[in-house]
Amino acid sequence: TQSTNTADKSVKSADNASTDQKKTYIVGIDGEYPPYSFIDKNGTAQGFDVESIQWIGNKLGFNVKIQPIAWDGIIPALNAKKIDMVYSGMTITDERKQQVNFSKPYYKVNQSVAVHNDSTLTLDDFKAGKGKIGAQRGTTGAFWVEENLVNKSVIQADQLVTYDNFPLAATDLQNKRIDFAIYDRPPMLDAIADKPLHLVGEIDTGEEYGVAIRKDDTELLNTINKGLDLLHESPDWAALKKKYKME
Ligand code: ARG
Repeated sequence: TQSTNTADKSVKSADNASTDQKKTYIVGIDGEYPPYSFIDKNGTAQGFDVESIQWIGNKLGFNVKIQPIAWDGIIPALNAKKIDMVYSGMTITDERKQQVNFSKPYYKVNQSVAVHNDSTLTLDDFKAGKGKIGAQRGTTGAFWVEENLVNKSVIQADQLVTYDNFPLAATDLQNKRIDFAIYDRPPMLDAIADKPLHLVGEIDTGEEYGVAIRKDDTELLNTINKGLDLLHESPDWAALKKKYKME
């Protein structure tokens, strides 16, 4: 698999390479994760999560620098202090909690499964392991397949094909190199929108997104939790959801 063209590159952000005394926090994102975090054609970071942290920074008086990082290495980058937080649709899981702290949850999602429009495969076929499954490496979608299909010998390990980012999986599904793709529902809808692909169903994982922060950085954890409270109480929260067509 290739790596993303935006990974590990600095990007322009709407705010501020500032000369003031404010703190600057570096926010790690996957730059290929619309509608939560993505780099537009001008090289500017956009998305629901990007605008959320910019809002919180404005409200609480800190600067935000958006830093795209390859998803699979994003927690190591956080713990190596290359970034100060991960704010990019990261599901709060017990495994990740051993490595990082999470803010309070800010969004709920399920996994969804897509196929080619020419395909007659169903969600039951997916669960029965009838074909190759694409997922982004290091995501809860890939973990679900490992736990429920690979480890239970429903599929062979090589039937799970992992990618550095999800658009690569969507392209392989379009080209019929794989039979299914699994991903969080909102970014899945975005990825299939302009392709001959459709959803066959959802897996009710009931995941919650949180902002990941280094374990020793309790000051930042408190700041983000306070910022999330303020954002959620504000009319801007509904406006943001509407802008990015979130449920
Ligand atoms: N919510 C899933 C997870 O935490 C998928 C996240 C993918 N996020 C991203 N920015 N690529 O594993």
